[in-house]
Amino acid sequence: MEAAITSVLALLALLPLALQLLRASRRGLAFVLIGAGIAVTLALATSLLPIERVIPSNRPIERPQDGYVGSGSCRSCHPGEHASWANSHHRAMTQQATRETLLAKFDALDLDCFGEPVSLRWRGDELWVSMQRGTSSERIDRPVVQLTGSHHAQALWYSTGNERELGIVPLVYRVAERRWLPFHAVFLMPPEWRTLPADGTWNQNCNGCHTTHSMPRVDTGRVDTMAAEFGIACEACHGPGERHCNENRDPLRRHKIRTSEETFDETVENPTRMNAARDAETCGQCHSVSIVNREHFDSWREQGSPFRPGQELAKSQLVVSIADQDAPELRRKLQQDPQFFSHTFWNDGLPRVTGREFHGVVSSPCHDDGNGLRAMACTSCHAMHQEESDGRETAEWAKSQLKPGMDGNVACTQCHPEFTDLSALQEHTHHAADSPGSNCMDCHMPHTSYGLLKAMRSHRVESPRVADEVRTGRPNACNLCHLDRTLAWTEGHLAQWYGQPRLALADEQATVAAGARWLLQGDAGVRALIAWSAGWSPAQRASGTDWMQPYLAQLLADPYYAVRFVAARSLRTQPAAPDLASYDELLPQADAAAFARRLQDAWQAPRRSNSEILLDDRGLQWEAFRRLLARRDDRPVFLAE
Ligand code: HEC
Ligand code: HEC
Ligand code: HEC
Ligand code: HEC
Ligand code: HEC
Ligand code: HEC
Ligand code: HEC
Ligand code: HEC
Repeated sequence: MEAAITSVLALLALLPLALQLLRASRRGLAFVLIGAGIAVTLALATSLLPIERVIPSNRPIERPQDGYVGSGSCRSCHPGEHASWANSHHRAMTQQATRETLLAKFDALDLDCFGEPVSLRWRGDELWVSMQRGTSSERIDRPVVQLTGSHHAQALWYSTGNERELGIVPLVYRVAERRWLPFHAVFLMPPEWRTLPADGTWNQNCNGCHTTHSMPRVDTGRVDTMAAEFGIACEACHGPGERHCNENRDPLRRHKIRTSEETFDETVENPTRMNAARDAETCGQCHSVSIVNREHFDSWREQGSPFRPGQELAKSQLVVSIADQDAPELRRKLQQDPQFFSHTFWNDGLPRVTGREFHGVVSSPCHDDGNGLRAMACTSCHAMHQEESDGRETAEWAKSQLKPGMDGNVACTQCHPEFTDLSALQEHTHHAADSPGSNCMDCHMPHTSYGLLKAMRSHRVESPRVADEVRTGRPNACNLCHLDRTLAWTEGHLAQWYGQPRLALADEQATVAAGARWLLQGDAGVRALIAWSAGWSPAQRASGTDWMQPYLAQLLADPYYAVRFVAARSLRTQPAAPDLASYDELLPQADAAAFARRLQDAWQAPRRSNSEILLDDRGLQWEAFRRLLARRDDRPVFLAE
């Protein structure tokens, strides 16, 4: 900047001399002088100004290095792949905060975060937040510089003033509801929790999975966080691209590859050409719970993870497994946070949160040892680029980036073709072929993961077994649709249809519907899952909805905001949806309880008897209802999605 100003001043200084020469009719020389001055000014200005402009000092920056060149370098040769990637949520995971990237549109907003005012104001092209910092009473006024997410939720980060360090704005924008909600209400955590991710959490933690080739570069006296590229870009999955780009500048090479039988290009990685283990690990570098290996810890802080697509993940990251608690990295983690496992896993090591699909896939029988030709990996079902033949709207593909049809039985019959025959299917599932009960994944990959205020499919292929539920507390697939049936009912059918061994069940497991027990007695994570199922149409078809209102109404006053939120959404999907216009998920406990009671009192019980869901011909058996509720599992739950 100073250089540009100096050259403008120099030009101004030359002006009198040029004018003098003009007057003296030495026109040629005068024009040369003026021309030279302008040229020097422009050259200095263009070489210096933009660099100054693109290197802000108050937020993390993008700097391709270590062989990474950035998605812009791939575009000219791969316009199709570039375009489909640009439409994916991967691309938009980390963005600079601008009027365009911020999904909520406003000029000024005054929000409330549990009584604390938070205001957001645009000042020209800069967004500013004014808020109370953390739990201190200090109020701060800081520029919002970065955003996380574009699909379900968008979180905002402000510059703390300490170099490139970021702090989180305590309200998160929910895309579907177009609503700002406190961080504490969007994530499932005990209601009394009020701590936010500490300043610098993004730099050291979130960065690792939300950018390409992240480099924390944080130590005492320095916060110089950077990434090769914001968001999940080409090279996160294809490896550093410098050599590939350079070699393919040669048109002869390009021609040779494109016309040869094998279009294989060994200068770049392609997950579909890897064996199933490496394929899954490419995604598992982020879609897993893992800890950087001890020997890489120092270099990770400086240069990021040493993992490159195509390599064995275990060489860089310890993928956390309950079976392997002796690993020093894990021992240290457990010392810091003894609840680390329960925040993330069911007690058999399957994640109970979303975004960690790797553990499920690699522990499926279909993944095998990962080397079999038919072995299942992420790309068996997901497509990271929308295929040309895919007739769906781009937004539809981008929602879950599945190949066409892979939300249905093709996902499984591509490798288990014996079930494409409809009578074989019916014989296997004991449901009509067109019933939701014949959808492979609803029995073998049920919705037992929770995150982003919804339930998501488990990614471990396993079969419904009541014994597994008794052992792990993870709801079984049959009752996730048949909410109004008991565990004993399910067990009976599994024995009869599939010859599974019978087991002795506790009294309530035999007499009270699984859905009723889960909704009233489950821990907060289970309540959220089942509240979601109650709004899911296959479950509504299997169980009916006329009995659900008092149960879901109860959850409108749940201590956990996330549970309230999911329950209210499910209530609204019911055919006889109650009026929730005046309900707000953030109501104080007493008001929420009063609201719930009003709904329960106004409810018209169906005229039928079904003791499993606590109905008799006089209506709901309130005493039994309250007895169950009194034994709710109130152990604190925090789910680290
Ligand atoms: C100068 C042109 C050029 C540039 C730039 C370029 N590529 Fe390629 N790429 C090719 C050619 C040629 C092939 C081989 C034939 C084909 O698939 O089109 C190829 C193939 C690929 C493949 C398939 C490889 C395989 O064996 O299946 C991937 C993946 C890929 N490129 C990714 C990238 C990424 C990521 C970038 C940016 C970092 C990039 N390319 C930049 C020309 C280029
Ligand atoms: C281990 C990798 C990993 C880490 C570390 C991580 N995330 Fe994520 N994050 C993910 C994945 C994967 C998803 C997509 C989850 C899904 O769709 O189920 C995601 C999704 C999100 C979303 C929703 C985005 C959207 O578009 O709706 C938010 C918000 C988010 N993460 C915030 C954070 C914050 C804040 C941190 C740091 C405290 C963090 N994440 C750390 C992997 C990670
Ligand atoms: C999240 C991981 C991921 C990201 C990000 C990604 N890709 Fe891919 N790419 C894949 C996978 C997986 C395949 C295999 C086919 C598929 O899934 O669509 C693939 C296939 C390709 C192919 C080969 C297509 C063929 O004909 O076989 C090219 C070329 C390619 N990607 C280029 C790019 C470029 C360029 C970018 C960035 C603009 C990019 N990819 C971003 C994962 C990714
Ligand atoms: C560098 C980290 C990283 C890598 C590598 C990565 N992902 Fe992701 N993935 C994320 C994050 C973060 C999100 C959340 C993006 C969002 O939703 O805004 C995400 C979102 C997704 C989603 C959509 C979920 C949603 O809610 O929007 C799917 C599906 C997905 N990833 C699959 C894959 C597959 C398959 C691969 C491997 C081919 C892969 N990812 C590689 C980090 C990664
Ligand atoms: C057998 C098919 C199959 C395999 C294999 C598979 N997925 Fe999925 N995945 C699905 C289906 C189906 C969904 C649910 C989509 C929906 O409900 O809209 C899904 C959802 C997801 C989501 C959440 C998307 C969202 O809408 O929030 C992510 C992230 C994801 N998968 C990542 C992965 C990763 C990473 C792997 C490999 C480790 C993988 N998946 C392997 C079928 C599969
Ligand atoms: C990419 C191929 C592939 C996909 C996709 C796949 N499987 Fe598998 N599956 C296998 C292989 C290979 C095995 C192990 C060998 C065997 O038993 O056939 C297996 C085993 C199984 C088993 C255990 C068999 C036993 O006898 O214990 C079940 C159950 C199963 N698969 C169900 C499914 C379901 C349901 C889906 C869809 C969600 C699915 N598979 C998707 C390849 C696949
Ligand atoms: C109504 C629930 C249900 C549906 C739907 C379902 N399965 Fe199963 N499946 C089971 C149960 C239960 C078992 C376990 C049998 C046992 O106890 O070993 C099983 C077992 C299997 C096995 C193991 C070998 C065998 O044949 O017993 C495979 C493979 C399998 N299923 C694939 C599929 C595929 C593919 C689909 C969809 C086309 C599908 N299943 C749909 C409930 C279901
Ligand atoms: C995706 C939802 C879904 C799943 C999972 C599911 N079912 Fe069903 N089931 C239904 C629906 C819906 C019906 C009602 C008939 C119809 O509409 O197809 C039904 C009907 C039945 C019936 C006959 C009617 C009745 O209520 O007596 C039985 C028995 C049954 N299911 C047992 C099971 C068992 C056992 C499992 C697990 C192995 C299971 N279902 C898994 C949706 C499901």
